[in-house]
Amino acid sequence: MPLKKGKGTKMYNTARVKFKHFNDQYGHLVPIESCVDTPFTVKRVYYIFGVEPTMSRGHHAHRRLHQVLICLNGSLKIKLKTPDEEEIVELKNPAEGLYLGPMIWREMFDFSEGAILLVLASDSFNEDDYIRNYDFYLQEAKRFF
Ligand code: TYD
Repeated sequence: MPLKKGKGTKMYNTARVKFKHFNDQYGHLVPIESCVDTPFTVKRVYYIFGVEPTMSRGHHAHRRLHQVLICLNGSLKIKLKTPDEEEIVELKNPAEGLYLGPMIWREMFDFSEGAILLVLASDSFNEDDYIRNYDFYLQEAKRFF
């Protein structure tokens, strides 16, 4: 995926993704099909819940991984960084996702009571794909952007 300014976000390689949303008197249904509703083939799904409001997670970037993050319940905030940009995005709509492409530093915080974060990822878990040190991230990211 080429580097581009996101839709609904200010930063390169990030975008808000709106899903189809069926809402009637019986409730809500949001379908997500790999490659149709996501800008990559979904190979892995995981979810995060039970995060105390004072805790933050993430504090890393991925070298090659593409992800879509969806807050299924409650709300949370994500601080996104590149060497030249910074933005805080709130996730609270289960019918909307946040696409994060490679080399975006992220920190998730301000989890509400009962918040559930679903993550769709383009590849299997691979610790070598992580950059967990912010100074190392800056060095690599300056060459990337
Ligand atoms: P990590 O990605 O560091 O979580 P966060 O960035 O939200 O704080 O993952 C936490 C732990 O879970 C770490 O030991 C790796 C493990 N893990 C897997 O084994 N498989 C996975 O798909 C993910 C996302 C994490």
